[in-house]
Amino acid sequence: MILDHLVQVLEADAVTVLLLAQDGVTLEYAGTRGFSSVLPSRSERVGTGLAGQVALSRRPLHFPEMREASLHPDWQRVLRQDGLTSYYAVPVMSKGKVLGVIEVLNRGSLELSPGWIESLDLLVGQLAIAVENCNLFEALERQNLALRLAYDETIEGWARALDFRDKETEGHSRRVTERTVELCRALGLPPEDLVDVRRGALLHDIGKMAIPDAILLKAGPLTDEEWVVMRKHPDTAVELLAPIKFLRPALDIPQCHHEKWDGTGYPAGLRGAAIPLTARAFAVVDVFDALTSDRPYRAAWTREQALEHIQAGAGTHFDPQVVTVFLEMLQQT
Ligand code: C2E
Ligand code: SIN
Ligand code: SIN
Ligand code: FE
Ligand code: FE
Repeated sequence: MILDHLVQVLEADAVTVLLLAQDGVTLEYAGTRGFSSVLPSRSERVGTGLAGQVALSRRPLHFPEMREASLHPDWQRVLRQDGLTSYYAVPVMSKGKVLGVIEVLNRGSLELSPGWIESLDLLVGQLAIAVENCNLFEALERQNLALRLAYDETIEGWARALDFRDKETEGHSRRVTERTVELCRALGLPPEDLVDVRRGALLHDIGKMAIPDAILLKAGPLTDEEWVVMRKHPDTAVELLAPIKFLRPALDIPQCHHEKWDGTGYPAGLRGAAIPLTARAFAVVDVFDALTSDRPYRAAWTREQALEHIQAGAGTHFDPQVVTVFLEMLQQT
């Protein structure tokens, strides 16, 4: 837009806008108007070339006759081709820093009247603001991404620590997380929800942190008293995670992964669609993975035995529609 305004308002035959790249020493052509052929280069270094001199000196540069400027032969050819003879360039600055350079070229001589200079200054100012806003936005985007990556790396670290506590379930969290995200995608969940699915699945058993080794790692079946402790782990997860604001949308799976379709699960005894879909999906994936893994309390089942168990649980333990999609998904892999 600014390029078009430059051409119109300044009645220029050709203009270029160069912006300083991240490295601070390269000026890149952000856009041009009025040239009939491709420019000889896509960038200039600060200090070399006309624009490079403007960026370094931070002063306007004026050549009423381009022949006076010692130009590279490639440039001379381009200018000759379009009959461009006069040149005026200004630095684009903000807060004492060079952001770029604007070059104006004309066939005849350039009328550097006070009004013309003022119009150019106005456009230079607008460009400076636009570039600053754009840079700020990009920096913010980068920071947001870095922050999100840092959060997710932290969660993955927690999940590894949880798996580590019981060597026999090593890799369990990562495996069930990948499968659950895949299953939820197949169930038609919007992609923007999958981030929370992922976080919730990674942390689904974080409540087991509060369960003593004597119970968690017990080689045999649990007593009634031990089951009371074990069944607390979803509520413990909520206690641990609810104060963490960015994890609140990820609570469904840790809270509801032991609810059952027929209402006989825990902690709340929710039934059917009252159980969040992501938790219904996760339950199928979790039980399948638990059954096919060695546990302190039993050896791994075969894949076939586990699949039979899942199928048998459709409509009682599990949402039958989720089971159907899960089985289809497993057949494809
Ligand atoms: P987990 O080992 O990750 O098991 C998750 C879920 O998978 C179980 O939830 C259950 O629905 C299913 N599952 C796992 N193994 C079996 C199995 O051998 N048979 C059947 N029918 N289902 C199985 P659940 O039952 O609510 O158990 C939650 C957690 O309680 C388990 O997580 C595990 O850490 C612990 N746990 C369950 N049973 C025992 C046990 O007999 N001994 C010990 N030490 N811990 C147990
Ligand atoms: C564990 O704490 O036993 C690992 C996670 C799981 O079994 O689901
Ligand atoms: C993921 O990490 O796989 C969930 C994010 C997404 O797929 O959009
Ligand atoms: Fe659990
Ligand atoms: Fe689990």
